[in-house]
Amino acid sequence: MPLPKAELHLHIEGTLEPELAFALAERNAVRLPYADAEDLRKAYLFSDLQSFLDLYYGLMAVLRTAEDFTELADAYLARAAAQGVRHAEIFFDPQAHTARDVPIGTVVEGLAHALDRGEERHGVSTQLIMCFLRDQPAESAMATLDAAKPYLHHISGVGLDSAEVGHPPAKFREVYAAAESLGLRKVAHAGEEGPPAYIAEALDVLGVERIDHGLRAMEDPDLVDRLVRRQIPLTLCPLSNVRLRAVDTLEDHPLRAMMDAGLLVTVNSDDPAYFGGYVGDTFHAVREALSLSHDQLRTLARNSFQAAFLDHDEPRRER
Ligand code: ADE
Ligand code: ZN
Repeated sequence: MPLPKAELHLHIEGTLEPELAFALAERNAVRLPYADAEDLRKAYLFSDLQSFLDLYYGLMAVLRTAEDFTELADAYLARAAAQGVRHAEIFFDPQAHTARDVPIGTVVEGLAHALDRGEERHGVSTQLIMCFLRDQPAESAMATLDAAKPYLHHISGVGLDSAEVGHPPAKFREVYAAAESLGLRKVAHAGEEGPPAYIAEALDVLGVERIDHGLRAMEDPDLVDRLVRRQIPLTLCPLSNVRLRAVDTLEDHPLRAMMDAGLLVTVNSDDPAYFGGYVGDTFHAVREALSLSHDQLRTLARNSFQAAFLDHDEPRRER
């Protein structure tokens, strides 16, 4: 029996397995520049975040209809459930689809069709978090928030993803203020490739409740102290960090040191179809690489429920 856990950092588009990508390409008459699924998988050699994002956004061309999004989400829930996931807070990137003339309603309703049946079919409860692409203008994010208004009953929160360096959180100050006034929860990717200052800025300027990644927090002892004191959750993604070369090897990952420092860290898969494993695989890999004890694995699983937007009626605020 895998440890029951929550997954809090998972991009639904990052669960698009090569086989499903080819099946959708055929159904939607989209030509892919790869011979087959195996050929596509061979292209998954990334040098950094941007080299991944280029391929990732390109492959989204196969996602066109609400049914495509339903199938994608249902496949994720089946895999996640098999690895012990009981609750998932799932990111999606509306702008990556609206830019291809796929309406936001098609995306949200397609995903919601699968997620609404998640408990019954897979024993997984879910929430949906809409991410803004930080390398696009803030005006585009604001227009996306506006376009999402008819679908907010399906959406719990907002996040910030895509190319980090050069796109500090403060760029999205007004968008996050507007999201908060709509009652949405707030998270943001920070400190994946960007500096620790982006983590502090996401807390100070955007008022986020969780930091996605936060890998580089350890470079700033004062920031670590603040994150520990306030028990602000960090959603780490160790396999992603290795594949995108944020760390050299899994053995070099600071997860264990972060736990030892008293940080509230969780382990997640980010884009499992691209990075070599779903969240149960990730637990297994870090246990081996970092010689984690069973107690430490249980702490990580417990942290995942503590950091989730479950049973917390009110947004977490720094005291
Ligand atoms: N979008 C999908 N995966 C991402 C990651 N690891 N960082 C930033 N944006 C992303
Ligand atoms: Zn991510």
